[in-house]
Amino acid sequence: MSAQSHSRRITVPDIRGKKGVQPIVSLTAYSALTARFVDPHADIILVGDSLAMVEHGMETTLGATLDLMIFHAQSVMRASKRALVVVDLPFGSYEASPQDAYRSASRVLSQTGCSAVKLEGGAAMAPTVEFLTSRGVPVMGHIGLTPQSVMGTGGFKTQGRDRSTWEVIKQDAVTIENSGAFAIVLEGIVEPLARAITNMLKTPTIGIGASSHCDGQILVLEDMLGFNPKVPRFVKKFGTIGDAVDKAIAEYAASVLDRSFPGLEHTYEPKD
Ligand code: KIV
Repeated sequence: MSAQSHSRRITVPDIRGKKGVQPIVSLTAYSALTARFVDPHADIILVGDSLAMVEHGMETTLGATLDLMIFHAQSVMRASKRALVVVDLPFGSYEASPQDAYRSASRVLSQTGCSAVKLEGGAAMAPTVEFLTSRGVPVMGHIGLTPQSVMGTGGFKTQGRDRSTWEVIKQDAVTIENSGAFAIVLEGIVEPLARAITNMLKTPTIGIGASSHCDGQILVLEDMLGFNPKVPRFVKKFGTIGDAVDKAIAEYAASVLDRSFPGLEHTYEPKD
C-alpha cells in the first residue's frame, strides 16, 4: 500500500508490516508549511533535531531543546493527517537514565499528539529503549553515525569503513531490535554492512547515507529540495528550490529598487 492510498494516519504496526513488502518513504519536516507538502507522499515524517542546523543555523544538532522539538512537532502535527510523525528526543533529554527518557518522551507524545520518538545510540541505549517500549512509547532507533555524538567522534564520519568495527555495529542493531524499536535508522553506514544489518533484522531499517539496500530511506527535506548549497555527499538533489527562491527574491528586490513593483491591486479609481 502506498502512502497516498491511506485515508487514516499510518501506524507503527503499518510500518513494521512493510518489511520485505514495500519500501518505506520518509522525510523530515519541521513546520506546517513543509509538512503539508510531505504528508501525501511519506509513510513517516521525522521532526528531526537536524532542525537545529537547517532551521536555526546551529553548527550541530546539540542545541535543540525539548521545548523547541515540541514547538516544531506541534506545527507538523497540525498540517499532517496521514504520515506517521516521529519526533527526535534531543541531546540531553534522555541519555542520563531511562526515567529521564520516559519523562521527555511522554511530554513529546502528550503535548504534540505524534506517534513515536526517535533516539540515538546502540547497545548502551538498549535498556532505555526497552524501558520506553515496555511502557507504551513507540521508539525508532538510530545507529551508525549519530550526530548527537559528533563531539566525541570528531565529526560526521561514515561508519564501518574498517571491517573490525562491523561486529559492534551489528550488535547495536540487534540489541536495539530486541529492545522493541519498531524501526531503526541506519545513518552513514557502508553499503555491505547496511545490507547485512537489513537482512539480519526483522525490524525495518531506514537508511540515510547507508545505501539503497535498507528497507526505507530518509532525507532531510531541505537537502533534497536543493535549499542548502552544502549537503552531505550522498544526498541527491531532487529539486533546485534554493535557486528558485533566490531568483524570486532578487526579482522582487529589483522591482522595488527600480520602482517597477506592481502596485496595481491598490490602484485607486474614483467612483465619480
Ligand atoms: O535529525 C534528523 O533529521 C535525523 C535524520 C537525518 C535521520 O535524525
